[in-house]
Amino acid sequence: MLTVHSAAEMTALSREGRRAGKRVGFVPTMGALHQGHTSLVRAARSRADVVVASIFVNPAQFGPKEDFSRYPRTLEADSALLRAENTDYLFYPSVDEMYPPGASAWVNVEGICDKLDGRSRPGHFRGVATVVSKLFHIVQPDLAFFGQKDAAQAAIIRKLVRDLSFDVEVVVCPIVREPDGLALSSRNVYLTPEQRKQATVLYRSLMRVQNLADQGERDAGPLAEVGRQVMSEIPSVRLDYFEIVAPDTLDPVSDISGGALIAVAAYVGETRLIDNILLSGTGA
Ligand code: PAJ
Repeated sequence: MLTVHSAAEMTALSREGRRAGKRVGFVPTMGALHQGHTSLVRAARSRADVVVASIFVNPAQFGPKEDFSRYPRTLEADSALLRAENTDYLFYPSVDEMYPPGASAWVNVEGICDKLDGRSRPGHFRGVATVVSKLFHIVQPDLAFFGQKDAAQAAIIRKLVRDLSFDVEVVVCPIVREPDGLALSSRNVYLTPEQRKQATVLYRSLMRVQNLADQGERDAGPLAEVGRQVMSEIPSVRLDYFEIVAPDTLDPVSDISGGALIAVAAYVGETRLIDNILLSGTGA
């Protein structure tokens, strides 16, 4: 695996692969890699000839009071993981390489950027859409792999690619979980052992809603109420949102018959965690 710091060099390497008729698969990350990330690399490995992963803790997607400076940075372990998954290139740019001093151009996917996490984290998805656009320009992938874990992000990137005609196929991969259901996240390392136990309430709330839906409940109102009720059973966990929305627009739905995204976000101590499940449509 070759680690590349320069955007120009990354573009040249990617072009070389494409000219040789190879398909380039790309996995953008912020590092602190876990099995959720490696599942994306494996998906890329299975569908592409050249696999590029990036690690860039993107300052533009963190709010002023968020954890940019303390976000875990574990480059050596990350490189070992990526190497073990047969990654060809690790793109690891500096902040200056990605944002030349004075940079002031932004990519904003209007409307959808203010839904779910975008509502509680103003500017977050503008930062994500901007950095992903830049990474797509630099890496020029045929395929790009994202996790369903960040369901709102996945919806926004699909829309970004469509609205701005990026020639990239977006592949969204399933959520990888711990045995007790907690979705893997780079932020799970912030949790104390006690908080780690409390954090399972997110998945429990989703499972309760799933059970009710399986029993035939179609009305989003009572389903969301039950989800919120389960979340409130752990008083030290502060709910940000529990919402039932359309997976592509992130707009609330009143009935889940056409399929729905059940999404939850909550603070466990200072740590903000998110999780979701997709319910398929019943056509009923
Ligand atoms: P990061 O949080 O590092 O996540 C990188 C990718 O891994 C995202 O597509 C995310 O959805 C996926 N992922 C994280 N946890 C997962 C899990 N448990 N199961 C499956 N996939 C999982 O998301 C970002 O970085 C950034 O916003 C980025 C897109 C890199 C832009 O800066």
